[in-house]
Amino acid sequence: IETASGGSGDRQAFSSRSVFILAAIGSAVGLGNIWRYPYVAYESGGGAFLVPYLVALLTAAIPLLFLDYALGHKFRGSSPLSYSRLRRWLEPLGWVQVLLCFAISAYYAVVLAWALRYFLLSFTLGWGKDSEAFFFGDFLSLDETPKAIGTYDPGTFAALALIWVVCIGVVLFGIDRGIGGVNKVLLPTLFAAFVALVVRALFLEGAMAGLDAFFSPNWGALKDPAVWVAAYGQVFFSTSVAIGAMLTYASYLKLRTNLTGSGLVVAFSNASFEVLAGIGVFACIGFLAGQQGVGVDEAVAGGPGLAFVVFPALISEMPFGQFFGVLFFGCLVVAGVTSLVSLIQVVGAGVGEKFGMGHRAGTLVAGGATAAISLVFFPTSSGLMVLDVVDNWVNNVMLVGFAAISCLLVAWGARALPRLAHHLNAVGSFPVGWFWMLCVGVLTPAVLVYTVYRGIVTLQA
Ligand code: PFF
Repeated sequence: IETASGGSGDRQAFSSRSVFILAAIGSAVGLGNIWRYPYVAYESGGGAFLVPYLVALLTAAIPLLFLDYALGHKFRGSSPLSYSRLRRWLEPLGWVQVLLCFAISAYYAVVLAWALRYFLLSFTLGWGKDSEAFFFGDFLSLDETPKAIGTYDPGTFAALALIWVVCIGVVLFGIDRGIGGVNKVLLPTLFAAFVALVVRALFLEGAMAGLDAFFSPNWGALKDPAVWVAAYGQVFFSTSVAIGAMLTYASYLKLRTNLTGSGLVVAFSNASFEVLAGIGVFACIGFLAGQQGVGVDEAVAGGPGLAFVVFPALISEMPFGQFFGVLFFGCLVVAGVTSLVSLIQVVGAGVGEKFGMGHRAGTLVAGGATAAISLVFFPTSSGLMVLDVVDNWVNNVMLVGFAAISCLLVAWGARALPRLAHHLNAVGSFPVGWFWMLCVGVLTPAVLVYTVYRGIVTLQA
């Protein structure tokens, strides 16, 4: 295993910058792009959503991505170690990130397990005629309440166990051979398969009606603060920033690497994939609406519903749907796996470095504990509700809230921004300066605090 020069002893390293970029894109492109973005964008102004989305990308996601890269790369450690090397008293910030990754991975893996089961079901169109009744009834056993609350589902348990074994296995293989190797193969495959899916979708009857709905701008939405809040929330989760994933990956980059250039490639690749997913999904929804004789509005369902209710219905309706279904759920699994490994790496590296256990033992202990919790709590019939609540609180409130706190502490508490800008500028595609510091120290935290406030108001409503 190669080590990063200047790192502490046996610290691993990515063999090249392109492997790092692929791994970072793999972390960013995930379930959030394929089912979350299209729905959020549609609800929040359609075509007009691109405006707040781009603003959020430029003023929050990219500046924080640079911050993550600078911290990880300069201090060469997992989140807690890097923060504590900046200032000892900042170590808890790193642990908050580890905890968030722990919480997200526990349920993210469950959605992946569902996708894996639907991948298999696609071969036979196993959801039958009514995909909605199947998902909530046969699949999640939610229709048998209250009798079945807590019923354990062996199918989901098995799929989930498999996901955990594979992903922990990948992380155990190491940052370059394991995570890098898997991304090198899976990411180009994902991209090719997804482009094929989107092109196929565009030729479906009614596709244009769907695109029309997706892109017709509702400019009035831009006056609604909730739309801006949604854009910031989406961009954060989707780009994997402020949660330790990008920081940890950057800590395995060799010294003298172009960080700003890499960040732009990662952020824009992720954003492009997101818009591409939106186009594909809405082309499909247009087709489905036409088949069912309903408006596009009616055919859209958010969250888990989009992937697990609307898509199966569509797959059943279209010619050679099985093929499309296998490809779609295959893409979902692949996109999710490359994101889940980054979450496991944050937790494993954080624990491993703190307790001097090394990379493998850290991954086994921390990954094993997360897997155990995930396997005990989520494959039950009440798992969906727990998942929804955890997802909302973790993403809309905690992730964004702690991001604001860490920006302020790094900028004003540790007064570290000039130093970090200097680090970014050592080797970069362009200089970062006052605008970056203004974003990280003032603009981004201000918007984030407002987002958290709105998030709490909405969740309590
Ligand atoms: N960015 C991933 C997605 O869009 O699905 C989710 C994610 C992965 C968030 C890793 C945070 C993270 F650290």
